[in-house]
Amino acid sequence: MKGVILAGGLGTRLYPLTHVTNKHLLPIYDKPMIFYPIETLVKAGITEVLLVTSGPHVGHFLGVLKNGKELGLKHLEYAYQEKPDGGIADALSLAESFADGQSLAVILGDNTTDSDISEDVKNFKEGALIFLKKVEDPKRFGVAVFDEKDKSKVIAIEEKPQNPKSDMAVTGLYLYDSKVFDIIHSIRPSDRGELEITDVNNTYINEGQLRWAELKGFWSDAGTFDSLAAANYYWAKKGGK
Ligand code: DAU
Repeated sequence: MKGVILAGGLGTRLYPLTHVTNKHLLPIYDKPMIFYPIETLVKAGITEVLLVTSGPHVGHFLGVLKNGKELGLKHLEYAYQEKPDGGIADALSLAESFADGQSLAVILGDNTTDSDISEDVKNFKEGALIFLKKVEDPKRFGVAVFDEKDKSKVIAIEEKPQNPKSDMAVTGLYLYDSKVFDIIHSIRPSDRGELEITDVNNTYINEGQLRWAELKGFWSDAGTFDSLAAANYYWAKKGGK
């Protein structure tokens, strides 16, 4: 399986920090944020990676990551998202030729976790697998809606709902088969003008092709000052490296 890290967007919620550099190069304790998703993929045995990025500081990535060898990657490719806030699914669409018909492990560049997804990667065959995590503030995330009778069955995902139907957030780690690109081509921008990954996942649900697993261990995004601080605190306490 190949890996895709989505590190586009303008990171406006972190202004003025993101005037300095791309959000994903900001520090989380002792290393740039982007090291964490790369390490998650490498730990899962994925060493061929495409990094999708955008915005005014894209050049900074090359200086930090070079060809990815120092981080254990065999192959690191870069893609440029022309509309930096076109949405997560728009960013993922740039991976179509890189994927070349293979399944993909996709991870958002501002997500850090110490979870080991290597078994899920090894056992993945087709459809989509999403990773859910219980959170205290579900309104900030995509949230799973469960079947009233079969409580383990996800029947929909709602993006940042006002009244969340569960406290299980959709984390920014996803496994997809190659059908993901046909699905992305079939969806339309949301009211906020983005191609939403939640619409992609709902399409898999409607086709009976989405499974989920609970993400073990620590997980946080780092797109707001509070979540960036929480991620820093966790990794600092853990001791770094
Ligand atoms: O962190 C998990 C959450 O990430 C999920 O629960 C939500 O369902 C999902 O929509 C997403 O929500 P966010 O509001 O946190 O997404 P954000 O716009 O902050 O983007 C997260 C990362 O995705 C960002 O660090 C880089 C990448 N991205 C985002 C956009 C909008 C891109 O590469 N291109 C984009 O156009």
